Amino acid sequence: MLSLNVSHAALTAVDTPLLAIFCTAATGAPVALPASARSLDDALQGAISRTLARRDFRAGRDETFVLTGPERGIERVMLVGLGKTPASRTAWRRAGAVAARAAAKLGCGALHALATDAAPDQIEGLVAGLALGAWTYTDLRTPAPEAERRQPVSTATLLLADDDAARAAFAFGEALAAGQAVARRLGIMPGNVCTPDTFVETAHGIAERHGNVDVTVLGREQMRAEGMGSFLCVAQGTPEEPRLVAMEYRGGAEGEAPVVLVGKGLCFDTGGISIKPAPEMEWMKYDMSGAGGVMGAMETIARLKLPVNVVGIVGATTNMPSGTAIKPGDVVRASNGKTIEIINTDAEGRLVLADLLVFAKRFSPAVVLDAATLTGAIVFALGHHAVGLFGPDAAVVDEVRAAGERAGEPGWPLPVWDEYREQIKSDVADVRNTGGRPAGSITAALFLQEFVDGYPWVHLDVAGTAYSQSDLGWLPKGPTGTPVATFVEFVRGRAR
Ligand code: BES
Ligand code: MN
Ligand code: ZN
Repeated sequence: MLSLNVSHAALTAVDTPLLAIFCTAATGAPVALPASARSLDDALQGAISRTLARRDFRAGRDETFVLTGPERGIERVMLVGLGKTPASRTAWRRAGAVAARAAAKLGCGALHALATDAAPDQIEGLVAGLALGAWTYTDLRTPAPEAERRQPVSTATLLLADDDAARAAFAFGEALAAGQAVARRLGIMPGNVCTPDTFVETAHGIAERHGNVDVTVLGREQMRAEGMGSFLCVAQGTPEEPRLVAMEYRGGAEGEAPVVLVGKGLCFDTGGISIKPAPEMEWMKYDMSGAGGVMGAMETIARLKLPVNVVGIVGATTNMPSGTAIKPGDVVRASNGKTIEIINTDAEGRLVLADLLVFAKRFSPAVVLDAATLTGAIVFALGHHAVGLFGPDAAVVDEVRAAGERAGEPGWPLPVWDEYREQIKSDVADVRNTGGRPAGSITAALFLQEFVDGYPWVHLDVAGTAYSQSDLGWLPKGPTGTPVATFVEFVRGRAR
């Protein structure tokens, strides 16, 4: 991960291959030189102010302009546009990511970011953005020959005001970035590299790094003993050991009811016997993004030592067609005793989550949030710009929506009315695992609700938002880190 540092040095004393300066666009007028950059502009004989006066750089969103500086000191200056919108946390996040990606293209290895005038919210955004933009996954690539290699951005130093608010904002941004890196790494790893045991290792890694998380791991045998016939029927098509991983973080008062985060961890989803079409099936490696989001959030929360009790639960397996796989028409029994008729083996995420939601109850949760790449239908409903939010309790759904908005991961509620329940009634069992085409994301949520008992609950469908299938400019093609920031912001809200 990007190594992040803080400096309080005066600009005139800074040595860096690249200094990023963030500017707000002005309508019909040249961009104003940020006050904090005046001394630098003087040292560069007015090169920055001339660039602005000529309107070579207008500080539009995602716009960058690089000026070559002197031999030593600040070797290059990059002007980065924040756009016209009030310089919000998300605008700074985006500009930070753009700066880091542009620095990576230059191959200069390190950068400084000028944020002495930035508000705490903006610093949080900037730090997270720099890390988002600098993030790479190169484990499986042969490195290019030395002479052709551009140095990846490995360090970013923020020039900050010397005060506690700035320091706290930096620490938060850094912790969030660490969590998002955990989630994105898991998300991009292919299904033969990220296996259920990878979640066990990741949980142990978090516990070792921070020393404040207890990890419990269940395999096939223990799940059988718990009566988790729903989770296990998904895992019965693979010889790989399925894993239920629970991480208990106790940062709050003893006995205080925890926030429980639950994640779908399908390391790969072929669809099983109801097999998916071949084109684009490779994307289904990201079907563990809910679980990745839980892991990432636990990393951030444990790192920040937030004063809240939080439990993270993930269910990891692989959905495979095989001689032992579950078949359409089969009936299984979940750990709350309910029977489920399997109509489509590709509706497997909800089967895994069913037993996780029953399992969650033993922690006497204050609230349970689950995240899952649950339905393709959510892409039809909301596209790639919003997380689908579901739950019977409008106030908690709105609490998650507000957290997501602050986090820059907007979500939008869809109804879970009783009328839709008709679609998941079974001829032979208590419930069936699919409700047909209409309102596919809603019937999936209603299926989950059958296993929610006695605690407030919100379901997040992240199938449209956890992985970007194109380069977004500020973010590369690949895992986005969603829903880590939403989970963290929600928990942080509960800590206040
Ligand atoms: N993992 C998929 C959902 C998905 C689809 C995520 C596309 C990301 C992109 C899920 O397990 C699934 O297959 N859902 C089915 C449900 C259907 C069989 C009722 C779907 O969405 O088609
Ligand atoms: Mn599926
Ligand atoms: Zn799936």
